Amino acid sequence: GLPEYVKIVEVGPRDGLQNEKVIVPTDIKIEFINQLSQTGLSVIEVTSFVSSRWVPQMADHTEVMKGIHQYPGVRYPVLTPNLQGFHRAVAAGATEISVFGAASESFSKKNINCSIEESMEKFEEVVKSARHMNIPARGYVSCTLGCPYEGNITPQKVTEVSKRLYGMGCYEISLGDTIGVGTPGSMKKMLESVMKEVPPSALAVHCHDTYGQALANILTALQMGINVVDSAVSGLGGCPYAKGASGNVATEDLIYMLNGLGLNTGVNIYKVMEAGDFICKAVNKTTNSKVAQASFNV
Ligand code: HMG
Ligand code: MG
Repeated sequence: GLPEYVKIVEVGPRDGLQNEKVIVPTDIKIEFINQLSQTGLSVIEVTSFVSSRWVPQMADHTEVMKGIHQYPGVRYPVLTPNLQGFHRAVAAGATEISVFGAASESFSKKNINCSIEESMEKFEEVVKSARHMNIPARGYVSCTLGCPYEGNITPQKVTEVSKRLYGMGCYEISLGDTIGVGTPGSMKKMLESVMKEVPPSALAVHCHDTYGQALANILTALQMGINVVDSAVSGLGGCPYAKGASGNVATEDLIYMLNGLGLNTGVNIYKVMEAGDFICKAVNKTTNSKVAQASFNV
């Protein structure tokens, strides 16, 4: 059966903006995050403590982290690929972090400039330091349903990397369909394998919608007992190191589906649409959310 409550992890300020070519002013990012904080969302991924040479849009990570109003009951994780990023994140006031690995050797090299094995050694240091400071760590696995460089990725490889991240102390493993090529069929096979090593209560799905399969894939994951879903307001998003990948599933569309299923999220869809409208105007884009398109056209 389906879970009664679904936790939405809003990744719009990070995944949603990281691929935008035009640099969004820091005060706009802060206002965007503050608006999202008032929608009922309980987790908002704020920024990435990565190299500004690699991802220029995230260069203002410290200013954004320090500038946002941290609302009670909302958590504000940030991405940290290594100890350097971790220390900067902590100095900026982060109290929750995510490491991000991949199930594809080629993607790992392109995205974080090291092999999967090397990345796991770096993540172990980060997660260990985080544990000493009582900072919860989440672990991402990219390319769980396909890789832009290698094509097919086996469920075994995804399982191996997920198990490693869970074993080192990540409280939750977010399984990324980085390029949005998965289908309910491949999602089911992948999850069946991963769930042999990581319990569904410690898993999340992170679906990009390139092939229009994201909501179907998410429903499949919910039916298999997963109740944490990543999404980005307005369907923004994409990884600069995954060519051709389009945005994340839109938070508005996800909430619409969950509301229709009678599942509780605690999030106000209208307020999310307003935050989406704000950021779309700021980046001069039209929304990718079907629900927002339909609602604003009435
Ligand atoms: P590197 O060049 O291999 O790092 O980059 P290095 O350790 O060799 O150091 C080289 C230089 O980078 C040094 O500076 C370091 O100080 C600096 P220099 O001495 O030359 O002036 N450096 C850093 N600077 C700032 N922050 C840091 C940091 N670490 C080293 N943390 C690195 C390695 C990981 C930093 C680089 O490859 C990088 O920044 N990659 C960014 C990747 C990224 O952000 N990708 C997008 C997020 S992942 C994603 O979108 C997928 C996800 O959504 C899930 C899904 O959809 O599947 C999560
Ligand atoms: Mg992503």
